[in-house]
Amino acid sequence: MTSRKTLFAALTTSTLLALAACGGGGAAGGGVATGGAAEADSTPGAARFRVVCGVCHGRNGDNGDAPNVRDLHWDAARMRAQIRSGSGRMRPIPVARLSDADLEQVLVFMGTIGSVQ
Ligand code: HEC
Repeated sequence: MTSRKTLFAALTTSTLLALAACGGGGAAGGGVATGGAAEADSTPGAARFRVVCGVCHGRNGDNGDAPNVRDLHWDAARMRAQIRSGSGRMRPIPVARLSDADLEQVLVFMGTIGSVQ
């Protein structure tokens, strides 16, 4: 009985490890943005913005529960700091969630909606 339990535990552990090994990627991407009239839908960072920021700020930056981020005209450095450090009720967005390369793409998209200069 004990040994069966041990075997089960071992199997469960290795299954979890295998799953964990597969996950993590995060490179995802390929986002063909669907719908939305936004002129910027074809910008590479649009899909990332919508996944990472849009849950709170809305898919177009001005239609979420969090504050409007359109037309802020912040410089890129300030926006990077906001994303990586957060402020107030916004928690920092770590590299694991948004790589540096993807962050730059998001900034390009944000340029098209006036968030960054
Ligand atoms: C979990 C929800 C959430 C996510 C995800 C999120 N934000 Fe925020 N964001 C907020 C909230 C809430 C605030 C308001 C913070 C405060 O002042 O308390 C905020 C504030 C901001 C501000 C400042 C707005 C101003 O006028 O001061 C900017 C800019 C911003 N977010 C950009 C982003 C970007 C870009 C992303 C994605 C990379 C992002 N946020 C992801 C919730 C979020």
